Amino acid sequence: MTYEHLDEEARQILRDNDRGIYTVPTSGLYPYQWNWDSAFAAWGFSTFDNNRAWVELETLFASQWEDGMVPHIIFHRQVPEYFPGPDVWGVDHTPPTSGISQPPIAATMARAVYESDKAAGRARLEGLFEGLLNWHRWFMQARITDGLCCVTHPWESGRDNAPDWDSSMANVDTSMVGEYKRRDTSHVNNDMRPTKQQYDQYLALLYFSRDCGWDIDTINEKSPLRVADPGMHFMLLRAHRDLLWVAGELGKPDGAEIQGWIDSMVESAEKFWNEDGGYYDSINMRAGEFTHTLSCASFYCWYAGIDETRMVPHLERILGSVKYPVPSVDPARPDFDHIRYWRGPLWCMANSQIGAGLAEMGYAELAEKVRLGTRAVIADQGFAEYHSPVDGTPAGGQHFTWTAAVWLTFASPQAKGGF
Ligand code: DGY
Repeated sequence: MTYEHLDEEARQILRDNDRGIYTVPTSGLYPYQWNWDSAFAAWGFSTFDNNRAWVELETLFASQWEDGMVPHIIFHRQVPEYFPGPDVWGVDHTPPTSGISQPPIAATMARAVYESDKAAGRARLEGLFEGLLNWHRWFMQARITDGLCCVTHPWESGRDNAPDWDSSMANVDTSMVGEYKRRDTSHVNNDMRPTKQQYDQYLALLYFSRDCGWDIDTINEKSPLRVADPGMHFMLLRAHRDLLWVAGELGKPDGAEIQGWIDSMVESAEKFWNEDGGYYDSINMRAGEFTHTLSCASFYCWYAGIDETRMVPHLERILGSVKYPVPSVDPARPDFDHIRYWRGPLWCMANSQIGAGLAEMGYAELAEKVRLGTRAVIADQGFAEYHSPVDGTPAGGQHFTWTAAVWLTFASPQAKGGF
């Protein structure tokens, strides 16, 4: 089988979703700039248009808040087909933004873009460095509790309806949410998206933080949801490592500070280890309890640079039980749902992080399984937002930016296959 036509299709998807200075995840369903989608877009562009890759990251950081936070959505224009839009978030910023962040992978992608063309990229990397450093500082100050990276809204984790949040979400009072019209389900089938009850809870949490004026201390103290997330922890840890590399490359004096973050996050990562199940688990910090969720985030340990043999048998078992890798939650769970967003489907972008991490840590056979499985699902079922790991059913949005980017960087036979 040849795959060249898919290389071209992937480039075309990036071009089609390109809005000039930022890339939408897909038109219709997600009409703005999303933080980690954009970072993946930059990685994809770096394979054929290095300048455009830098522009993507530069646009993202142009909307950084003064306190260092880089928002999860930047509302570059008015689009009535999306809810909740800028009026709901109530953030005073130009252009308007959401009030939370998203997985901090931009440093990792900036390094990858730079390494794809060092001569062209040095000044661009230099231009981004302070923004990246300040964003990482913000995470360390605003989102670390007991050494663990926490989220205050499921949307910040990127894994919106993952079971990790269920026990906390049960305590979210939705009585004041009122009537609203969802727009996501007019683009995508209901059974592929979060439930109505979850949407009510997302909005109640959004209103809560908005009514706190987005004040971090108040939110940290009072929000009903504060969950330590191995996904966020491992992605931030990985990004710190890449930022440290960048600091060294540019001769910056901030290496010791970044190294300190790395050391402390490596040490605290062990707190995610749930002895009962024998895996990295998320923690409901309000209740002080594990959430008992073996998810794709549990497998980000290798991507974070942790050489973890204990997770290998879980991955082998799970890969043996599905057609395509890597389901977002353990298929052995009774509530596993193969097409509902983060409650079962595989996400090609997550595969790229898990697969690259495995390869870097020397688990070549498993890494190849993840890479070839990602290639197969895209070749068989196209560039969907996510897919069923059971039968490959393409789900969510189509013509999707990060799936195209991951094809070009990770899954295609022509791709580098990692960072
Ligand atoms: C959505 O709109 O579903 C996003 O995941 C929120 O960021």
